[in-house]
Amino acid sequence: MNGASAQKIEVRRALVVIVRGTKSNLFSNGRKNLRQNYDRIDNSMYHAENDQWWQPDSVLYLLKTSINPVRVGYFTKKLFNELNIAPQESAALEVGCGGGILCEEIARMGFDTTGIDPSAQSLHIAMTHAKTSGLKIRYEKGMGEALPLRDNSYDVVFCCDVLEHVSDLRAVISEISRVLKPGGVFCYDTINRTFISKLVAIKIAQQWKRWAFMPPNLHVWDLFIRPEELKALLTLNNFEWREHRGTEPNLSYPHILYYLRKRAKGEWTYEDLAEKLLLVESTDMNIMYMGYAIKNSDLTEFSGPGENRP
Ligand SMILES: C[S@@+](CC[C@H](N)C(=O)[O-])C[C@H]1O[C@@H](n2cnc3c(N)ncnc32)[C@H](O)[C@@H]1O
Repeated sequence: MNGASAQKIEVRRALVVIVRGTKSNLFSNGRKNLRQNYDRIDNSMYHAENDQWWQPDSVLYLLKTSINPVRVGYFTKKLFNELNIAPQESAALEVGCGGGILCEEIARMGFDTTGIDPSAQSLHIAMTHAKTSGLKIRYEKGMGEALPLRDNSYDVVFCCDVLEHVSDLRAVISEISRVLKPGGVFCYDTINRTFISKLVAIKIAQQWKRWAFMPPNLHVWDLFIRPEELKALLTLNNFEWREHRGTEPNLSYPHILYYLRKRAKGEWTYEDLAEKLLLVESTDMNIMYMGYAIKNSDLTEFSGPGENRP
């Protein structure tokens, strides 16, 4: 059998596996086996000593070039044009700030900015970079599930590309609600749990070597969150949920696969890829979506015990 036929058979087999797996998962109620699925996720990339955040030829730099423009544009529109937030008089927190790619944009918006992350290595890179950018940002080590911060202390909390990485989503949402002031705004983005997200974010992005550009298990499909699950969790945690918007690539899928293949073969760097590939706002929430919610002024229900807690 030649290479091309073997590849076709491999793709066909993989599609059968996806369809079988997705069928059983799509009709199940909510996220399941969270503890086991969390054990599968590989967050080690965020603990690397070397800078993987700000080097143009690195996968995490795509957060800056391909993802930041759409989310920063969306949050700017909501916070300043619609909610009339005055950043110079407001404190903002980013939960899961990594190397500071989004935190620096938040500081540039004019907020008094704090970034929290469990990785000491990422925080070190974030601090060093903020200095060279001339930005004043407070960085602290901490987990979203137990924020080392006072109640009712922030006007805006951002949590982007993080909720699908945490061990206890309920605890993280409950903590974000706790540290937000009443009337404060929670801005987020995450990945949806759909057939398409399994194909694109797991199979193509991580598993199929022909195109893969991320380490395997950087994302685990079962930990992805459907928009209606997040909306329900926010409502339970004293938020008034406001909106979800999708994001999609600016290119057709054949183009994306062609470019990813060039990267996988070593003909292109991540930087070359970043020049072409950009996410744009869309009504399609099949893969990624972003949104915001406002913390209610009066206390309502408590979300109950955390997802992975005994
Ligand atoms: C894809 S990066 C996103 C970084 C940043 N938010 C951005 O968008 O540029 C995911 C980050 O989530 C952090 N993270 C993982 N588990 C976390 C948790 N339980 N609480 C807070 N952050 C977490 C990782 O250390 C990593 O920095």
